Amino acid sequence: MSDVFDVISTIGVVPVIAIDSVEHAVPLADALLAGGLGVAEITFRTEAAADVMARLRDQRPELLLGAGTVLSPDQVKRAMDAGAAFALAPGFDPAVVAAAEAAGLPFAPGIMTPSDISLATARGCRLMKFFPATPAGGPSMLKNINAPFAHLRAKYIPTGGVTLDTMSEWLSLPEIAAVGGTWIAKPEDMRAGDWQAIEAKARAAVARAKE
Ligand code: 3PG
Repeated sequence: MSDVFDVISTIGVVPVIAIDSVEHAVPLADALLAGGLGVAEITFRTEAAADVMARLRDQRPELLLGAGTVLSPDQVKRAMDAGAAFALAPGFDPAVVAAAEAAGLPFAPGIMTPSDISLATARGCRLMKFFPATPAGGPSMLKNINAPFAHLRAKYIPTGGVTLDTMSEWLSLPEIAAVGGTWIAKPEDMRAGDWQAIEAKARAAVARAKE
C-alpha cells in the first residue's frame, strides 16, 4: 500500500465532505485539525470541490487531502491539479484506476461484491472503499466477501451508514484500514457555520479510532 494509505490507516477515520462553498474550506479544515483529525475526503459531488481542494492545498497544507466520488479520468486529473494526495470512488471503473495509476495518485475504488473485489484486486488495487457499507450487510458481510481474497491482504474503508457508535465494530476487523462517513462534517453544520460541532465530532471520532 502507498505511504498515504498507511497514514490513513494510522488515523483510522476519514471524514467524507460534500462542501458547497469555497469560503467554508479553511474554517472546515481548522475545525477538523482542532479536533485532531488531519485528513479529509472532499467529494466531487459539489461544484465547489476542486476549488475547495486547491484552497486547502495552498492554505492548510498540513491537512492530508483526498478527492472523493472520483468517477472519470478527467476528475483524476482535476483532483491531482487541485492537490489531492489520494482519491476514492464509490465503484470500480478500470479506466479511472488506470488514470490514477498513470498519474501516480493513490486510489481506492469502491466495491460491494466478490466480483468487484476480484476485478479491483486483479487490477492491482489493495485498498478499496466498501460502499454502501451498512446497507450492504455491515462488518460481517465484508468479512465474508473478503474471505476468499484474504491471502491478498487487501484493506477496506467502509462508508455508508457508518457512525460514531458503529465505527469501533468496523475498526476491530483486521481487514479495515479506516472508516469513513459524512457524520463528522454535515453539510448543514457547514452551512450554519457551526464549526464547533464539527470540531467536537472530529475529536470524538479520533478518540474512538484510538481506542
Ligand atoms: C460516501 O460517499 O462515502 C457516503 O456517502 C458516506 O455515507 P454516509 O453519509 O452514510 O456517511
